[in-house]
Amino acid sequence: MQELPIDLDRAGGTPLAVQLADALRAAAAGGALRPGDRLPSTRGLAATLRVSRTVTAAAYDQLLAEGWVTGRVGAGTFVTAVPGPAPADPPVPAGPPPQAVPSVLDPGRPCVAALDRAMWRRAWRAAADTHPDDRPRADGLSSFHEAVTGHLLRHRGLIPPPGTVLTTAGTSAAVAELARLLPAGATVAVEDPGYPRAVSALRAAGLRVVGVPVDDDGLVVDAVPRGCAAVYSTPAHQFPTAVRLSAARRVALVERARAEDFLVIEDDYDGELRYDVAPLPLLAALAPGHVVHLGPASKILSPTLGVGWAVAPPAVVDAWRDLRARTGTRPSPAGQLVLTALAAHGDLSRHLRRLRRELRERRTLVLAAARGAGWAVQGDPAGAHLVLHPPAGERAAVAAAAGRGVAVRGLADYHRGGPRTSGLVVGYAAGTRADLTAALAALVG
Ligand SMILES: Cc1ncc(COP(=O)(O)O)c(C=O)c1O
Repeated sequence: MQELPIDLDRAGGTPLAVQLADALRAAAAGGALRPGDRLPSTRGLAATLRVSRTVTAAAYDQLLAEGWVTGRVGAGTFVTAVPGPAPADPPVPAGPPPQAVPSVLDPGRPCVAALDRAMWRRAWRAAADTHPDDRPRADGLSSFHEAVTGHLLRHRGLIPPPGTVLTTAGTSAAVAELARLLPAGATVAVEDPGYPRAVSALRAAGLRVVGVPVDDDGLVVDAVPRGCAAVYSTPAHQFPTAVRLSAARRVALVERARAEDFLVIEDDYDGELRYDVAPLPLLAALAPGHVVHLGPASKILSPTLGVGWAVAPPAVVDAWRDLRARTGTRPSPAGQLVLTALAAHGDLSRHLRRLRRELRERRTLVLAAARGAGWAVQGDPAGAHLVLHPPAGERAAVAAAAGRGVAVRGLADYHRGGPRTSGLVVGYAAGTRADLTAALAALVG
């Protein structure tokens, strides 16, 4: 570090923290600092430069926010290969991002029609009755953590040990935060096809993302390359193929996580929604020391709440808290209060029963429309989307539907360069049942 050209002008008008951030940024851009280089501790650098630690901490925070450096769990601050995506990554498939299409058949949209408005109003009123908080905790409200613990126990069979629950601002935001806790330039394996927003959150943090194929048993665990820092997966209901990760693959994945010491990010985005058999054990229950379990409120209630939850190993929770303290980010206390109120008197469980009933019936509408048209169907009796296989093929069916005024996504939109599978990804949660029926009629022609 002594060789770095850091020349602070103490008499000038530019704050020392700004000068220091500028000097480090220039060193990273000019090659004097290389990706993976470890920066001195804020305390050590402050002593070397004879400035206060507030100055070095502020400079590091600025570079962290810009993506030039990353905090590694328990290890320090490292120069990343960012800003900009990792160069080794294959290009993301062409076309607008799936979330951009406002369609009744969009698999990303939740079933807000199933929300009982009286229940919703009651919860917001109860949230408004709480005393305004002048210093909400960055890792979330303890009342919310208790509500989530009860929810996970009741609906996901998970018993989070004390101190392992953390509030998030939703799953994509949580993945983006976790990405910053991983080693700079590390490799993360994702499902291919998979959830594009998780992939872009990982790439935006400068991580190298590699696609791993998915088959009828979910993620092909044997195809996960060695040397990954993390594996992101949707085991309960693979997005977008709608299959679940088999019991044998779950065990194989967590055994590899333990043996190779990588983190598994378990995106349990719609795990509460299953319409046949009991769900398989969560990865977080199988290997709590190696799994970060993520759940969003957006899929079972509404993105309006802007919250979700994570259950993570204590070291990850600590590093996550630290990241929040340094970046000043925290999830919405209002959203947490509303969900807490919904959970308090059984409203959330009643809502989930209603939601499951509604979505199970909507699913039968999709099955009837597809089978009536002679289209094959793929997907577990779970969640809020299915994959349909029109005999004319994906591209022709997407174009024909567009011609009839219905936007629908094909599996090609969710692939990342691996071998492509084909089919239509049809969500059935958005809008009213009448909207869905009309869209399905237009889809199958
Ligand atoms: C696979 C998957 N994970 C997570 C989410 C929820 O993400 P967020 O909490 O960012 O809305 C979605 C929403 O569509 C999803 O499809």
